[in-house]
Amino acid sequence: MSSSALAQRPIGVFDSGVGGLTVVRALMERLPNENIVYFGDTARVPYGVKSRSTIETFTAQIVEFLMQNEVKALVIACNTIAAVAGQRVRQMAGAMPVLDVIAAGAEAALATSRNHHIGIIATSTTVNSNAYARAIHAHNPQARVQSQACPLLVPLVEEGWLDHEVTRLTVREYLKPLLAEDIDTLVLGCTHYPLLKPLVKQEAPRLQLVDSATTTAEAAAQALAAAGLLNPDPAPADYRFYVSDIPLRFQTIGERFLGRSLEQIEMMRLG
Ligand code: DGL
Repeated sequence: MSSSALAQRPIGVFDSGVGGLTVVRALMERLPNENIVYFGDTARVPYGVKSRSTIETFTAQIVEFLMQNEVKALVIACNTIAAVAGQRVRQMAGAMPVLDVIAAGAEAALATSRNHHIGIIATSTTVNSNAYARAIHAHNPQARVQSQACPLLVPLVEEGWLDHEVTRLTVREYLKPLLAEDIDTLVLGCTHYPLLKPLVKQEAPRLQLVDSATTTAEAAAQALAAAGLLNPDPAPADYRFYVSDIPLRFQTIGERFLGRSLEQIEMMRLG
């Protein structure tokens, strides 16, 4: 196959549900030429409270599906999947570039922080895996990392309570132990949290926020360029969205994450 035909293939982006659409949104903005196939495991979300072995099994099924769709690169848009199944994805992908929200978020946090004292908010599984701390320490063993699991935030965001008193108090409570430390940077380590950026900024005005969606899009742009895989075709990009279930209010919630209308949705059951 010619290198141009390979470069025209889509990027495969996946998540436990709709949250990964924040990463798709950032990719659409950063790489407007790129075709994208998205898979969201809406039938089995949330992953953030599940065990490593269950997440690995589900993830392998998603990667198999995306590889059948002849993707040229994979983007793990889910922090929880990246935390516990990133290695499995890379084994399956072979030579194909694999980007993930944790690697990109960790690097961006180190580039942002001045005192190298970094806070992480994420799901319980991500925090328990210690994946962010490992990714940060791989670059800078002296960095200090403080993590806080925020399991209530995913349902609040899905409810659309982005500027609601209940969400504000919940965020305030979760940030308390982090703000008691001298962190200067906070990683929004879950697909859903970029939507809470304005509220988190109000609650923690002196912190620099790292949004793993935008940093992942930037890392994807660099990796595709380095591999000679940027799509040279100027035709409008093609976006396909697969989900394992279409629950009530899916369209509304999905469009909130994507920031535009959600079309070409197909249901695909895995496993
Ligand atoms: N996508 C997940 C993450 O980024 C959040 C939702 C879930 O728990 O599955 O960690």
